[in-house]
Amino acid sequence: MSHSTKLSIAIVMMVVWACGFSTEKRRPKQIEDTQQQRAVKKVSEADIINKTTKLGDSITQIAASVFMGKTSEKFSEDGYKGAAEYCSMNAYPLTDSLAKEYKVFLKRVSSKYRNPNNAPSDLERQVLDAYEYSVEQDDEIGSNVQFIRPGDTILYNKPIRIPSELCLNCHGSPSQISDEIKTILKEEYPQDLATGYKVGDLRGMWSLKFLKKEIVQGL
Ligand code: HEC
Repeated sequence: MSHSTKLSIAIVMMVVWACGFSTEKRRPKQIEDTQQQRAVKKVSEADIINKTTKLGDSITQIAASVFMGKTSEKFSEDGYKGAAEYCSMNAYPLTDSLAKEYKVFLKRVSSKYRNPNNAPSDLERQVLDAYEYSVEQDDEIGSNVQFIRPGDTILYNKPIRIPSELCLNCHGSPSQISDEIKTILKEEYPQDLATGYKVGDLRGMWSLKFLKKEIVQGL
């Protein structure tokens, strides 16, 4: 530290003292530490879950509407090839931009998946099973947030139901899928499980992974 910097610091400290700010007694370090811990604890798990739910709900809402819009636009323009590109997360710039903006890992999973990359993990399967059970019981289903332990990741899920007949062109019963699409599906997804759906059916779920520290920072 240069002399002039030391001098400036000394002057600032004198001024502070002269104004009476330094007369407050310093708290013992131990007490300060406990207070800091309290400050950290004030961000409760409930706060984190609420914040994650809000973020997840808005991200998936945006993603779903862009998805739906692009798929129907492409389907009417280019038929299967164009739309299939948009029903895949890989050819999907939105995934990257959302990932960057919210540092979130975004995908869709289904127990009847078309692409094996969209098969659920064990934890995701538990959530999907719970959704499927609730649908059988005619119960409402909504987003679900849980901490992935151990670690600093939070899992957000939200059900995806078939919103319209558009989806049935590629996910409906054999009579609803054209021969052209059937042929391509057989070639590209030989183990396809994602057919036989009706409007309103549970097609799968959004699965987002957030970093806990990012959520806490935003609180
Ligand atoms: C033009 C055909 C086509 C249409 C229309 C279509 N999809 Fe898909 N869908 C696909 C293809 C192809 C995949 C596999 C994408 C991949 O490789 O990741 C897929 C995958 C999915 C997945 C991921 C799980 C899985 O099975 O791999 C979900 C969820 C999904 N579609 C939902 C929908 C919904 C909801 C609609 C209606 C809004 C819809 N799709 C319309 C072709 C289509």
